[in-house]
Amino acid sequence: MNIAGQTNPVNDRRHEVDLLASLAQGPPLDPLPVHPGIDASVPHAPRRPIALRGAEFKLALRNALRYFPTRLHATLAPEFAAELRQMGHIYMHRLRPTHYAMRAYPIDRYPAKCQQAAAVMLMVMNNLDPAVAQFPHELVTYGGNGSVFSNWAQFHLVMQYLSQMGEDQTLVLYSGHPLGLFPSSPAAPRVVVTNGLMVANYSTRALYEQFYAQGVTQYGQMTAGSFCYIGPQGIVHGTTLTLLNASRKYLGPARGMKGVVFVSSGLGGMSGAQPKAATITGCVGVVAEVDGTALRKRHAQGWVQEVVGDGSTSPASARACVIAICAAKRAGKPLSIGFHGNVVALWEALAAHARETGEVLVELGSDQTSCHNPYLGGYYPVQLSFEEARTMMSAEPERFRRLVTDSFVRHAAAIGELVANHGLHFWDYGNSFLLECGRANADVFENVGDGGDVASVDRPFRYPSYVQDIMGDIFSLGFGPFRWVCTSGEPADLAVTDAIAARVFEALLDACPPPDARVAGQLHDNLRWILEAGKNQMVVGSQSRILYSNRRGRAALATGFNDAVRDGRLSAPVVISRDHHDVSGTDSPFRETANITDGSKFTADMSTQNVIGDAFRGATWVALHNGGGTGWGEASNGGFGLVMDGTPDAAARAESLLLWDVNNGVARRAWGGNENAQLTIREEMELNQQLRVTMPHDASDACIDAAMKTRGSRL
Ligand SMILES: NC(=O)c1ccc[n+]([C@@H]2O[C@H](COP(=O)([O-])OP(=O)(O)OC[C@H]3O[C@@H](n4cnc5c(N)ncnc54)[C@H](O)[C@@H]3O)[C@@H](O)[C@H]2O)c1
Repeated sequence: MNIAGQTNPVNDRRHEVDLLASLAQGPPLDPLPVHPGIDASVPHAPRRPIALRGAEFKLALRNALRYFPTRLHATLAPEFAAELRQMGHIYMHRLRPTHYAMRAYPIDRYPAKCQQAAAVMLMVMNNLDPAVAQFPHELVTYGGNGSVFSNWAQFHLVMQYLSQMGEDQTLVLYSGHPLGLFPSSPAAPRVVVTNGLMVANYSTRALYEQFYAQGVTQYGQMTAGSFCYIGPQGIVHGTTLTLLNASRKYLGPARGMKGVVFVSSGLGGMSGAQPKAATITGCVGVVAEVDGTALRKRHAQGWVQEVVGDGSTSPASARACVIAICAAKRAGKPLSIGFHGNVVALWEALAAHARETGEVLVELGSDQTSCHNPYLGGYYPVQLSFEEARTMMSAEPERFRRLVTDSFVRHAAAIGELVANHGLHFWDYGNSFLLECGRANADVFENVGDGGDVASVDRPFRYPSYVQDIMGDIFSLGFGPFRWVCTSGEPADLAVTDAIAARVFEALLDACPPPDARVAGQLHDNLRWILEAGKNQMVVGSQSRILYSNRRGRAALATGFNDAVRDGRLSAPVVISRDHHDVSGTDSPFRETANITDGSKFTADMSTQNVIGDAFRGATWVALHNGGGTGWGEASNGGFGLVMDGTPDAAARAESLLLWDVNNGVARRAWGGNENAQLTIREEMELNQQLRVTMPHDASDACIDAAMKTRGSRL
């Protein structure tokens, strides 16, 4: 800044380059920095249960100290022991950087030898930006426990390695731990990340607590541990598409969104997108949240327009919300209401209202509490206030567990009554809600009759997952959450990419043959999104955008951005990426692959193959994770980042990688019998003679039934 308060870009740049020079130095050890204390200005992760005893506790300390020379052990050992006792994990708070703000700086500010490494540094720092991350000082980006690294020593070491890296080296990360830089080749990824991968029988939640506390694994969620998170707009876009398509499916294409009421829960990292998405679609969105801080944040941001309820467990508080919903429905205007209270209390009040009046007040319902982590702060039971629950979950874990279980039973009962008798359409929103309700013996299963197997791992739920009913068919068309980051950090660059994207989608629509209404519908929804993206002011953190696109769209976007970097319309490279939650990125039997009906949804070949295939087709970095979204052991997922730097090489990599990255999952879904996927992969094979996919020959019911009757016959 100069004296008149104006910024001078040259000075700012020099200042930031100086600030970030220390990233090349590794962990600050000479001298050790003064402990900055626990900063009350940012939210902190809940205390984790103490999972370690005796020798296991000692091992955790020993593991943490490995990052430091022995002369520092006597100082650090008691400090780390205290963190482990008090927080349940050794985050190494003393090493948290304080002399520069944690955020995505422009790509030319980093002390890196190659642009690809600088791009990764930008993405890492974005994931830890306090404006972006949920618990930034515990290195958690979103979803309660979605970690970038397990401790701050890893952050410093990774940044140091990236600053040293040449284009013939690859950095290997094991669950946050940098194993080292290994010689490779320019064609290889610069970084290969794995998070939470376990020998299969040891992927249990109890063991996760032990191994995370020992610092040998971590939960990377999806884009937390792969450095590809882009703040809340990613989920706002996905939620907007889900609501639009849910309404079309359940209420009919002609109903529109005016006066439709959608009720859900959670105003946290991802779930907080729901009220914003509801108003973008034009309906009334009502979202319950027990945590006053989370609710106030969304209210201050404008994503929640009205707040009702006093945060107490009193039934009067929930009744006040029902009255507010009645008024909003009558007014018929887009509105988002945040209910400060427990969602179970709200559903019970809505069920009581429906019983008394017979009115269909709520048409659409879901849930986005963090049920992937239900007993450690992801799900707050209705019997307790927020504060009581926070205390009890670590002080009396068994009693807390029983209350959560009972709360699930009440939760499912109220929803069941509204669905059965009062016009509600409910879906599981990918948060393991139905899975955990089922485990709690709540009434959520389909009545399978005499022929059903109640012990089956695949016992059907009464309500669909949003992938089964809504997003699955969209994935099968190859559409998924493509995203990009303008590494200049310039809003003007983002506006250029938005304009390129709008032109790409208009061209695709012009080329879309009229009978292909499914594809055209998706292109229309997404064209509308990109035309309004700037106006919706969704950017938090890096200058990024999300746009659901199919293979053709993704390839055209990547080429368009690369051309614009090459000819100077964009001032710096663009990173292309996607959410792991995509057509090929994730195997998750109760979410992304819930609509795959050939029995293969419990396998993880697709996501594993995807990451391997992306790695040798030119990705700048790849990541493979255990457990994103639905919880530890419940999913396998992966993703990539690719730097579009304006070169022909980048264009060729994108073309090859995206063809695989989308069509892997489309081919698998086609083999599983999905009609949209079969249509899409046939078109792709026509466009590319080198693509050859095994297609299924469906057996008729009559053929199978006849074979079943021949039980007595012998070969
Ligand atoms: N469908 C998707 O596309 C998608 C995407 C990402 C995440 N998810 C899943 O959605 C869930 C939420 O993600 P998040 O990042 O928002 O997590 P989060 O932990 O940041 O937010 C969940 C919120 O729910 C609140 N809450 C918990 N129990 C409650 C109750 N009984 N009543 C009212 N409020 C309650 C919590 O206070 C918290 O603020 C996770 O399980 C995540 O894996 C789904």
